[in-house]
Amino acid sequence: MKGIILAGGKGTRLGPLTKSVSKQILPIYDKPMIYYPLSVLLMAGIKEILLISTPRDISLYMDLLGDGKELGIDIKYEVQEESNGLAEAFIIGEDFIGTDNVCLVLGDNIFFGQSFQEKLDIATSLSEGAYIFGYPIEDPREFGVVEFDSQYNVVSIEEKPKEPKSNFVVPGLYFYDNSVIEIAKNIKPSSRGELEITDINNEYLRRNKLKVILFGRGFAWLDTGNPTTMLKASNFVETIQQRQGFYIACIEEIAWRKGFIDSQQLKKLANKNIKTNYGKYINDLLKNDLSK
Ligand code: DAU
Repeated sequence: MKGIILAGGKGTRLGPLTKSVSKQILPIYDKPMIYYPLSVLLMAGIKEILLISTPRDISLYMDLLGDGKELGIDIKYEVQEESNGLAEAFIIGEDFIGTDNVCLVLGDNIFFGQSFQEKLDIATSLSEGAYIFGYPIEDPREFGVVEFDSQYNVVSIEEKPKEPKSNFVVPGLYFYDNSVIEIAKNIKPSSRGELEITDINNEYLRRNKLKVILFGRGFAWLDTGNPTTMLKASNFVETIQQRQGFYIACIEEIAWRKGFIDSQQLKKLANKNIKTNYGKYINDLLKNDLSK
């Protein structure tokens, strides 16, 4: 399975922060926002990754993440000329995806919680069709919303409905078989002028090939859409890291635990940031976990 991180868009709801830099490079507590969705792909065991951003910002991500080799993965880059919608990722990424299945994660989505790994394992085992997720939130009107029948079968997915039919929204993490390329090429721009991911999901639903995995109340899916939600996300990460001593979205740790890199390489990566708590945390992993 291949992975795509979509990190474009104009970040208009975050101005002036985003006047000269990409939203997904901004910090969530102690690391760039993009580390969080990247860590999701690593947890899913995905090593071939395409990062898509704007012509202005793509070089920032290349500087930050390079070719991925130091994490034992392979990162390629493509540009999205205009914010034509999330579904355009599969058209831009057609050659990269080739004949594989693909996971798309949005560059501003943060996931954290117990049993996430098991849910990812289910989704990556996909042989055909699509897996998306459902997450209950207080006010779902700004998102894709799943409608269920009384048996919890999905009836429809609506993008930003004024009157939501449930409080389950679809987070920015999607697993598709290879037909997503053909589906993306055949959908039409919505009234807001975008190729909507919701239209892709509804096409899978029409084909009877859409599965939704629900997250429960003990799970955090965090929004980073405006300065307040960004601050809340930062505080959340800080609280968990301080309390438990485990870091959220430490990409070096995940690459090491997944066996993408060995302890020697982890040590090298720790040394790059050894003056920070982040680097010290990585360094301490080697001392504390003798099993690796
Ligand atoms: O976050 C989950 C939601 O993401 C889903 O519930 C919705 O169904 C889905 O449409 C999307 O909602 P938004 O309309 O809020 O997405 P937004 O326009 O904020 O874009 C999400 C991220 O993708 C953002 O970081 C910018 C990036 N993006 C967006 C567009 C439209 C791109 O890289 N390229 C694009 O063309």
